[in-house]
Amino acid sequence: MARYTHIIGWGKYVPSQVMTNHDLEKMVNTSDEWIRTRTGISERRIAGPKETTFSMALEASREALQVANFDPRDLDLIVVASATPDHIFPATACLLQDALGARHAAAFDLSAGCSGFVYALSVASQMMVAGTYKRALVVGAETLSRILDWTDRSTCVLFGDGAGAFVLAASETPGGLLSFVLGSDGSGGDLLIVPGGGSKLPASESTVQERLHFVKMNGREVFKFAARIMPKSAKQAIKAAGLESEDIELFIPHQANLRIIKSAAQAMDLPMERVFVNVDRYGNTSAASVPIAFCEAIEQNRLMPGDHVVLVGFGAGLTWGAAVVQWDRVLPTPKPKLKTLLRRWLGYRRASLSSFFRRLGRRIDTLWGIITGRRL
Ligand code: ACO
Repeated sequence: MARYTHIIGWGKYVPSQVMTNHDLEKMVNTSDEWIRTRTGISERRIAGPKETTFSMALEASREALQVANFDPRDLDLIVVASATPDHIFPATACLLQDALGARHAAAFDLSAGCSGFVYALSVASQMMVAGTYKRALVVGAETLSRILDWTDRSTCVLFGDGAGAFVLAASETPGGLLSFVLGSDGSGGDLLIVPGGGSKLPASESTVQERLHFVKMNGREVFKFAARIMPKSAKQAIKAAGLESEDIELFIPHQANLRIIKSAAQAMDLPMERVFVNVDRYGNTSAASVPIAFCEAIEQNRLMPGDHVVLVGFGAGLTWGAAVVQWDRVLPTPKPKLKTLLRRWLGYRRASLSSFFRRLGRRIDTLWGIITGRRL
């Protein structure tokens, strides 16, 4: 039975419509300066009138399947993480299954707020390691712009729309998804909530008038929770993978707020060179944020075979999820530029000599695996 799960395809989609902080200045009492200094966000993408969570998930999934060179008919499982599905039911994963023609795949949605993608990765990976499935599509997709109160400056400036997808394959080859840490604290549920539209407060004239179908958030409390849980869960996942912080080449945190990301990196003793940030261009895309960031890290040649990557999400629930991935895919991209290699080399000089040699050993091992055909 296959004991490992590898990422063999990846794709992202963001709407073309850009909303800048200056656009928001015309809508609510805010300023570009406030948003940038308090959150690190400069702009975000907003879905067009014909775009939905499903349509963006479809674009990202097609790209991921193309990278994996994979026929959707070979998929056994589709999991979509989203807080903004097209409908309460049917699941967005089922819409995706139909549109892709993935006729042999089981499909369901998963709700864990901004931690949803890491939760979905864990669920799919463990179903694969258990031997139930061999090939899965895991998607994080959101159209948060449709549940934002565009008169509430404390929330509407923070979020954006988009989708990201991974194709996973079960394998005998060590590596891939190495460890997961998932957690929740439901006592903080009301800190980040869409109160209306569920069975407790179904849509009615009064729920609409009271704006209960929009995101309500206690930003200060969520901030404190995030700053505490991000480094804690990341460290737990690193330990569960048998590694140490200095073994981590890239940290891909949920992109909610640059200040939260910096404080987590500091608590983990990780220099910002080893942290991936794109919150400035997309804002918080909830369950889509980690896979979009992962795809961009690949596009920017930030990952090399053998690298260890930590993914961390936190969000509504309250929930959190961290995963460690050993990147072992030979990338279909050109060689990194000399500048990139130099930057990496300088980054390594910051780590201890022993960790440098450990990395070197892993690289040689990976290379040997590729030469002997042991790796994917
Ligand atoms: N423009 C200008 N002023 C603003 C804005 C705005 N957009 N929003 C709030 N303010 C004001 C407030 O009214 C407040 O004014 P006051 O002091 O007169 O009352 C002042 O700015 C400070 O407000 P704080 O809430 O203390 O600001 P803070 O520095 O905490 O930043 C923020 C707010 C950015 C929301 C921060 O708390 C945060 O990022 N929290 C985490 C949010 C998060 O990560 N949420 C996503 C979770 S993931 C999911 O599942 C969806």
